[in-house]
Amino acid sequence: MTESFSADWLALREPFDAAARNVGLAERLVSLLPAHPVLLDLGAGSGSLFRWLAPIISRAQVWVLADADEDLLLRAYDDIARWAARQGWTVTQGQRALLVHTPRGAWRVEAGRVDLAAEPAALPLDGVDAVVCSALTDLVSAAWLERLVAALRTPLLACLSVDGRDAFLPRHPLDACVRAGFRRDQGRDKGFGPALGPRAPAALHAMLAARGFAAASAPSDWRIPAAALAMLRELVPGHAEAAARAFPARGRAIDTWRNARMHQAIAGRLAIRIGHRDSLGLPPR
Ligand SMILES: C[S@@+](CC[C@H](N)C(=O)[O-])C[C@H]1O[C@@H](n2cnc3c(N)ncnc32)[C@H](O)[C@@H]1O
Repeated sequence: MTESFSADWLALREPFDAAARNVGLAERLVSLLPAHPVLLDLGAGSGSLFRWLAPIISRAQVWVLADADEDLLLRAYDDIARWAARQGWTVTQGQRALLVHTPRGAWRVEAGRVDLAAEPAALPLDGVDAVVCSALTDLVSAAWLERLVAALRTPLLACLSVDGRDAFLPRHPLDACVRAGFRRDQGRDKGFGPALGPRAPAALHAMLAARGFAAASAPSDWRIPAAALAMLRELVPGHAEAAARAFPARGRAIDTWRNARMHQAIAGRLAIRIGHRDSLGLPPR
C-alpha cells in the first residue's frame, strides 16, 4: 500500500528541505543538462523540488511531476502558481500543464498520477534528460532501487535520503531506545517492499557504481533549531509513534521520552539534526 504524506507536512518541511539540499551536486547536474532540459521528478508531492531546483537550472525547462497522490499533484500546481506569483512571474494554466513565465525562459510543469511501485522500467524515462527525486529513496526497497538504476540512461539526482545520523540535543537517556525503534520502523514496507531507510544513500551509491555511473554524494542534513517549534512538534511525536510501533513493549518508556522532549521543545531548549545525503549519478558515456 502506498504511504501517504499530507500536504501540510510537506509544506512545513519545505524550508528545511530547501536549506538542506546540496547546491554543489545540483549545480554539477545542471552543468551537464542540455539547453532546454526535461526532468522527471519521482514522488514529486507538492512540487518542493521544482521550487528549489528550477531556479538553479535557470533557463527554459520542462518538468514532469510523477506521484501516486492526485491531491498532492493538484496542490503542486497551486503551490507553484502561488510561489511564482510571489517572484513576480505570470503563470498560465492549460489543461495538462502549468507554464511559469520567468525572465529566464518558460518553465513548463506537467503532473501525472503514477504508481512508481508498479515497475520502474515502465516509467516515462524516454525523452527525459534527468531523473530527480527528493525524500523518496529511503522509502523504497533495495530491489526497486536496483530496477530503477538498471533502467536509467540519464543522470539521477536523489536528494534528502535519511542516513541515520540523527541527534536530539541535549541528549536524553532514552534516545537510544527511541532511535532503535524509529530506525526499525523506517524499514517498514511503504509499498515498494522492505524500505531501505537509512541504508538508502550507501545502497544507491553502490548500485550506481556497479552499473558504471560516476556516483557522488554529500550531506544534506535537516537542522531544526529550537525556534522552529512547529517542526519540533511534528518530529517529536512522529519519532515516538514510530518507535512505539516497532517496540510496543517499550510504550511507557517512549511516552516518558516524548513528554520530556515536548517540554523541552515548548521551553525552547530542544534542537534536532536529522542526517540526510544527496546523491548524484552520471551514466557511463
Ligand atoms: C516524503 S514525500 C516527498 C515529496 C516531495 N518529493 C518533497 O520532497 O516534498 C514522498 C512522496 O512519494 C510519493 N509516493 C509514495 N509512494 C508512491 C508510489 N508508490 N508511487 C508514486 N508516488 C509515491 C508520496 O505520495 C509523496 O509525495
